[in-house]
Amino acid sequence: MNKLLAGPMATLSHQGLRKIYEDFGGCDEYYTEMINASSYLTHGQFESYYTLNEIAGDKIVWQLTGKDSEPMARAAKELCALGGIGIDLNMGCSAPEIVKTGAGIAWMIKPIEETKRLVCEVRNAIDSYNSQTSAKGNVHKKQRLSVKLRLGDENFTEAGFFKFCDMLVENGVEQLVLHPRTRKEKLARPPRYHYVEDLAKRFENKIPVILNGNVKDKESYDFAIKSSPASSGVMLARISAQKPWIFRELTEYTTVSDIEKKSCSNILPKSSECGMWEKTEDSKIRIDRLQVGLEYINNVRLYQPREFYETRMQRFFAYYCDNFSFGHYIKSKMLNCKTLEDAEATFKSYFDQIPDDRFITV
Ligand SMILES: Cc1cc2nc3c(=O)[nH]c(=O)nc-3n(C[C@H](O)[C@H](O)[C@H](O)COP(=O)(O)O)c2cc1C
Repeated sequence: MNKLLAGPMATLSHQGLRKIYEDFGGCDEYYTEMINASSYLTHGQFESYYTLNEIAGDKIVWQLTGKDSEPMARAAKELCALGGIGIDLNMGCSAPEIVKTGAGIAWMIKPIEETKRLVCEVRNAIDSYNSQTSAKGNVHKKQRLSVKLRLGDENFTEAGFFKFCDMLVENGVEQLVLHPRTRKEKLARPPRYHYVEDLAKRFENKIPVILNGNVKDKESYDFAIKSSPASSGVMLARISAQKPWIFRELTEYTTVSDIEKKSCSNILPKSSECGMWEKTEDSKIRIDRLQVGLEYINNVRLYQPREFYETRMQRFFAYYCDNFSFGHYIKSKMLNCKTLEDAEATFKSYFDQIPDDRFITV
C-alpha cells in the first residue's frame, strides 16, 4: 500500500498545521518537527508545545534529534507514553548548526558502532515501553522505531550506505524514510530516487521504505512512484506548507486513476469544519485560500506560546504566499508583520486588492 506522510519541518510541523491537514482529509502519518532530546528532558517552558497531540494524536511520529544516545533513549521512552505511531531518529538534517553538534546527519558520518549504540539504546527504550504497557493489559499500539536519513556525506559510497542501512534494520529499525541527497546537496538539486528503489527492494517484505524529496503535485508524484515502485509511500514536506490540501489532492487523484487506494481516502470528510473548502458538484473542492491563511494564524494563537507567534506565522507564509499572483509582494508584507493581528489584517487586505486570488478548485 502506498502511504502518504507529512514530513518533519522545524517550526512548521506542529499541531496548528496538522489541524489544517486534517480538515482537508489528512494523511497517514504526521512526523513532528525535530524535538531536541536533551531540551525535551528539561521540561522547559516551551517543550510541551512540541508534543501537543489532541489533533490526530494516533497518527503522530515523534522525531528526535540529539548528539548523545543516552538522553535520546530516555526522551524516546517518555515520548512513547504520549501515544502515536512511534519514534523517528533524525539522521538526515544537514543544517550546519545541527551537524556540528553531532546531531542530524552526523549520525551517518560518525563511526558506525556509535550510531549502532544509539539505535540499540532507543530500541531498548521502546521495547521496554511496549512490554510494560502490554503487561499492564493496555491496548496501546506497539510503538515503532523509524529513521529518516539522507545518502550521507559527499564522499559516500553505495556499499557504505547500504551497510549503514543494514545496520539500522538489523538493530530493530522498522521504517526508513530516504531523502536521497547528500549532506551538502541543496533542495533545488534533483533527488536520486533510484537509491530509494534500491533500498526498498533490499528490504522488500521486511520493512517499508518511504520516498521523500521534490514531490509537489500529481505529475511529480507519478514520476516518484514510477521511479521507485517498490517503495511503500511518499513523504511531502515543503509543498504541504504551501498547499496544505495537497494530501487530499493526491488521495483523490490516486483513487480516480486507480493507483492503489490510500488508507486515508476511506475517511475523507464531506465538508470543511472551519469554512476552508466546500465540495463542488463534480466532487472537486473549492478552497478559500484567505480562510486557510486565517485559520493557520488562529491555530498559531491556539497552539503556540506567544514567544513563537512571529516565527511560526512567518515561516508558514514564506511558503504559502507562493500560491498567489503577487506572491513576492504579499510575502514581504507578511514577513514584516510583528503581531498575529497585523498578519490577519495584512492578509485580508491582499484579497481586497486581488479578489481573483481567493478561491481555487482542485
Ligand atoms: C523549513 C524546513 C524544516 C525542516 N526540518 C526538518 C526536521 O526537523 N527534520 C527532518 O528530518 N527534516 C527536516 N526538513 C527536511 C524535510 O523533511 C524534507 O526532507 C525536505 O524538505 C525534502 O522534502 P520536500 O521536497 O518534500 O520538501 C526540513 C525542511 C524544511 C524546508
